[in-house]
Amino acid sequence: MASVVILTGAGVSAESGLGTFRDVDGLWTKYDLNDVATPEGFARDPALVHDFYNARRANCRGAAPNAAHRALARLQREHPGRVTLVTQNVDDLHERGGSDEVWHMHGALNGALCAACGHRWDAPEQMAPSDPCPGCGAPATRPDVVWFGEMPYLMDEIYARLEAADLFVSIGTSGNVYPAAGFVQVAAGAGAQTLELNLEPSEGASLFDAARHGPATEIVPQWVAEVLA
Ligand code: OAD
Repeated sequence: MASVVILTGAGVSAESGLGTFRDVDGLWTKYDLNDVATPEGFARDPALVHDFYNARRANCRGAAPNAAHRALARLQREHPGRVTLVTQNVDDLHERGGSDEVWHMHGALNGALCAACGHRWDAPEQMAPSDPCPGCGAPATRPDVVWFGEMPYLMDEIYARLEAADLFVSIGTSGNVYPAAGFVQVAAGAGAQTLELNLEPSEGASLFDAARHGPATEIVPQWVAEVLA
């Protein structure tokens, strides 16, 4: 099989019971992202930000991977080294669905990061602003997630894979947030075919060569079965 880059967003975890951001009832209809997903919001009220991510971490621990996560893991397993799975999600449902390698460009709920020294460690269930860093001791613990205004992780590695891809597939993402929303153009510009799998046409739907619309738990396993047939 050719080289495939897959980008997932909140839609792939929606049927596991984790909310999306921009749908009716999405997280950004209930919270102001400036308060809970920016460095400025964290500086203003770190306890509020920790409460938000503590609740999301608890939700995530109570959720189970779905058929879409499992199908993507199967695709990776059957084509070792050919399928790069990049996710904007901070949940670990791809890993629990069987994926060995997942590139978390927006970080991960199960990670903690010291804002003072950059040390990383496994997040406890509950984090608080006064938690000391196990590395330097500073009370500067934050979730290891990427906030608006910060540089997403692994960008050089992701662009290198996009440049070399034969196929780019975007799954369950609205196409609102850059740089991820621009990956389709990078891949297409480098000669890849592009496919969108989403509940409905995304913001960038017209940029894709092909699209399938429906719930991820149906259309992702179907697509994977066709690729593996
Ligand atoms: P959004 O909430 O913006 O978009 C979710 C997409 O999933 C929408 O296009 C939905 O139509 C689609 N969707 C919903 N349910 C689905 C289902 N069952 N099957 C398939 N698709 C479904 O979430 P993202 O695009 O992931 O960043 O958001 C991107 C980034 O914005 C997030 O990583 C987060 C957020 O702010 C940060 O916090 C930095």
